[in-house]
Amino acid sequence: MYILAIETSCDETSASVLKDGRKLLSNVISSQINIHKKYGGVVPELASRHHLQNINFVVQEALDLARLDMKKIDVLAVTQGPGLVGSLLVGIMAAKTLASLYQKPLIPVNHIEGHIYANFLEHPELKPPFLALVVSGGHTELVWQQGHEKYKILGRTRDDAAGEAFDKVAKLLKLGYPGGPIIDKLARQGDPAAIKFPRPYLEGSYDFSFSGLKTSVVNYVSGHQVSGAKRTADIAAGFQQAVVEVLVNKTLQTAKKLKVKRVVLAGGVAANSALRRLFDEKIRGTGLKLFYPSLVLCTDNAAMIACAAYYKIRNRSPKYRREMLEFKAEPNLELA
Ligand SMILES: Nc1ncnc2c1ncn2[C@@H]1O[C@H](COP(=O)(O)OP(=O)(O)OP(=O)(O)O)[C@@H](O)[C@H]1O
Ligand SMILES: [Mg+2]
Repeated sequence: MYILAIETSCDETSASVLKDGRKLLSNVISSQINIHKKYGGVVPELASRHHLQNINFVVQEALDLARLDMKKIDVLAVTQGPGLVGSLLVGIMAAKTLASLYQKPLIPVNHIEGHIYANFLEHPELKPPFLALVVSGGHTELVWQQGHEKYKILGRTRDDAAGEAFDKVAKLLKLGYPGGPIIDKLARQGDPAAIKFPRPYLEGSYDFSFSGLKTSVVNYVSGHQVSGAKRTADIAAGFQQAVVEVLVNKTLQTAKKLKVKRVVLAGGVAANSALRRLFDEKIRGTGLKLFYPSLVLCTDNAAMIACAAYYKIRNRSPKYRREMLEFKAEPNLELA
């Protein structure tokens, strides 16, 4: 079975062809980072315009790399939300047009579900139940996935998402956009213990909060003479260490409490090298098994959307069939 998926929820125009749920024949990602970086963040109007310019080429390239034409595709899938409405609409209109022109079924997929399902592409042994830590540009959530499409959101961020905090701190330090990968790289030259930033644990709750930590970095920078690459690297390392410790410790405490055996990382921040390292370290000897996607599958891509759609078909999800061409873009679509 060949699935063609389209993802345009934010600033990546992506299309992918997946064969039989595992074999990735193509995963084309056209990034708009160079367009948005001079503004220090994604400009929604520019994002939708560029999706519109790119979408046909990206879809065609995904088909070409897979050496297939539209007639060979069995099912289409597309991101329904959450995301920027103007961006989502471009992908949805492209998918609906192809679906009606070629008479193919079309499956709407939740973007966050897609991030989680990126893990199923590379780990055939992965099965629910598991605890997922979703850490991306717009979300920080602890999700207890009890079965396919059975999600319980245990906790979420009360203010900034983890990725958003990385981006804002990078902006404050004038490092560029997106901040996550830049801080990740710079932190390797810094000392994570040189500056001790607070660890916001919110004891007794599964929720997260990173805006206070971000304010601590702001206060540190305005209260000290920050000059030289070493000092900036120390701030980056100290900030990253605080975020990573909170994410790892809260996730592992929750996994223990729920008695789950598997922990899954998802979303752009799951690409963070310090986060992966600390998880790998702390999980050793606990009996828990840790899963995370390869780097390219952590940030936005259509392969993860294709994979989530595959499981909906395989598990005879009511989503497959019922919605067809009726669904709308949902900028605030919830997982559960
Ligand atoms: N190595 C890294 N370390 C930390 N953060 C990272 C790294 N790589 C990417 N990020 C962060 O991940 C975020 C992008 O991830 P993603 O594409 O999943 O977010 P999004 O799609 O914008 O938001 P959402 O998925 O919540 O709708 C950005 O905030 C970016 O800074
Ligand atoms: Mg995303």
